[in-house]
Amino acid sequence: MSERVKDKVAIVAGAGSIGPGWGNGKAAAVLYAREGAKVFAVDRNRAAAEETCRIIRVEGGECLAYEADVTNSDAVKSFVAECLSVFGRVDILHNNVGIPEVGGPEEIDEETWDQQFALNVKSMYLTSRNCLPQMVKQGNGAIVNISSIGSIRYFGYPCVSYSACKGAVNQLTQQIAIQYAGRGVRANSVLPGLMHTPQIEHYVSSGYDGDVEEMLQQRHQLVPMKRMGDAWDVAHAALFLASDEAKYITGVQLVVDGGITCKVT
Ligand SMILES: NC(=O)c1ccc[n+]([C@@H]2O[C@H](COP(=O)([O-])OP(=O)(O)OC[C@H]3O[C@@H](n4cnc5c(N)ncnc54)[C@H](O)[C@@H]3O)[C@@H](O)[C@H]2O)c1
Repeated sequence: MSERVKDKVAIVAGAGSIGPGWGNGKAAAVLYAREGAKVFAVDRNRAAAEETCRIIRVEGGECLAYEADVTNSDAVKSFVAECLSVFGRVDILHNNVGIPEVGGPEEIDEETWDQQFALNVKSMYLTSRNCLPQMVKQGNGAIVNISSIGSIRYFGYPCVSYSACKGAVNQLTQQIAIQYAGRGVRANSVLPGLMHTPQIEHYVSSGYDGDVEEMLQQRHQLVPMKRMGDAWDVAHAALFLASDEAKYITGVQLVVDGGITCKVT
């Protein structure tokens, strides 16, 4: 290992995985640890956060699991305070929590719309709001927000609330990037494309009437590389942005999509 984030402390929000295998948050947490970071793994599913920590510890890394709902302001305040009390600092804030909801404006009801914004956008505002004072104090910090190509493209079926949320995530990230650029804090977003993760099988297939295996094959074929990406593709992009290798990079939207947003059909 090259220890690209050696001795940094990384809060990973949504560090578990919804099912067996590698989700984006779990892969990012494990990769940060493999590259030398101490990981504070937050998830509303305690068992999922603990599973991520178990993997990190087995590999010789350091990790603490914390159960919290990132849409809850008090809970976010508490876990940032706990991270500072245990590790003394926070260098990386990785905001992974995000869930798609299939449907257009007539299918999505108001309650769902509000829940989507609370989960996909407000959560990132809350974690940033609570970590930024410490990052400014340190004169050093990197925020990585997981967005989606849905923030810039229609991806084949209506997901109006999710896409609107992810567009907001991009702008939240850029606003932080500019406001804190002179204070040692960088903020960037990663825009995954069609990724093959446990969550995508669960949520996309739950809003889909047809054969799920066929739908997954269609998703592979839509990508110029003829395959969906995986959680490690997203994690490696995040690692780069979080590391000092990206010290002159802030406010970018790093697309990780096998080329799909470059094509017309
Ligand atoms: N999977 C894809 O194809 C894809 C594509 C584009 C973008 N993304 C983005 O990647 C991120 C998620 O990655 P994933 O799909 O691999 O999921 P994941 O497996 O990383 O799961 C996310 C984790 O977040 C946790 N979580 C959910 N709500 C929470 C809450 N309120 N508080 C705390 N924890 C919570 C879940 O318990 C789960 O463990 C999201 O931001 C999503 O929008 C995914």
